[in-house]
Amino acid sequence: MLRFVTTNEGKVREAREYLDGVEQLDFDYTEVQAEDLRTVAAHGAREAYRYAGEPVLVDDAGLFVDAFDGFPGPYSSYVEDTVGVERVWRLVADEDDRSAAFKTVLAYCDGAEFDASPEPVDRDDATPERRGQDRTVDERAAATTDDQVAEGDLPVKIFEGYVPGELVAPRGDGGFGYDPIFEHDGRTFAEMTPAEKNAVSHRGRALAKFGEWFQER
Ligand code: IMP
Repeated sequence: MLRFVTTNEGKVREAREYLDGVEQLDFDYTEVQAEDLRTVAAHGAREAYRYAGEPVLVDDAGLFVDAFDGFPGPYSSYVEDTVGVERVWRLVADEDDRSAAFKTVLAYCDGAEFDASPEPVDRDDATPERRGQDRTVDERAAATTDDQVAEGDLPVKIFEGYVPGELVAPRGDGGFGYDPIFEHDGRTFAEMTPAEKNAVSHRGRALAKFGEWFQER
């Protein structure tokens, strides 16, 4: 059975829309300090697989603010806990450029090699939405991580999703985390139902790609 590894109920709600019968594994994997979400997610997937002994999917996400050079990015969780979402908005409110992006990295591990893919770490980040865009922030968030696949280490398959938006004063009661201050196409993620958010979100995009691959596997 596939286990979605997170302590965050909000993420599980969104994942269920794509993955029938997925079960939450409430396991707090070690968040290694790294500039790249992929490193964090891949490390977490290996650790969770060793713990559970079943196929696992780890979701590591972050908010990348253009005016802050991509910060908080991989430190989003720490910044939410220490600074808080409202104060992040107040910091950004002083900036002319309030653009930002969410990014999710899904890391899958089941202990086996991936026949479907020649590379143990596989990237698919050339979504139509991202082509032709200013990808500065995202590119910064995506330094190569191929070296993390040490000889003999557990293979991890990576799926990524990205959504651009604008930070705004908090609106809406839905979602979680930074959703109330992240606006996409005129509405904040907190003003959307989980299905509406999934249809456009970083996580929805990554889950759709993963779901397609996993069904074939
Ligand atoms: P993590 O992936 O659980 O480490 O999350 C990193 C940080 O980003 C946490 O503060 C989450 O609350 C926040 N976060 C992750 N995904 C989302 C999302 O879809 N919307 C809003 N905040 C998110």
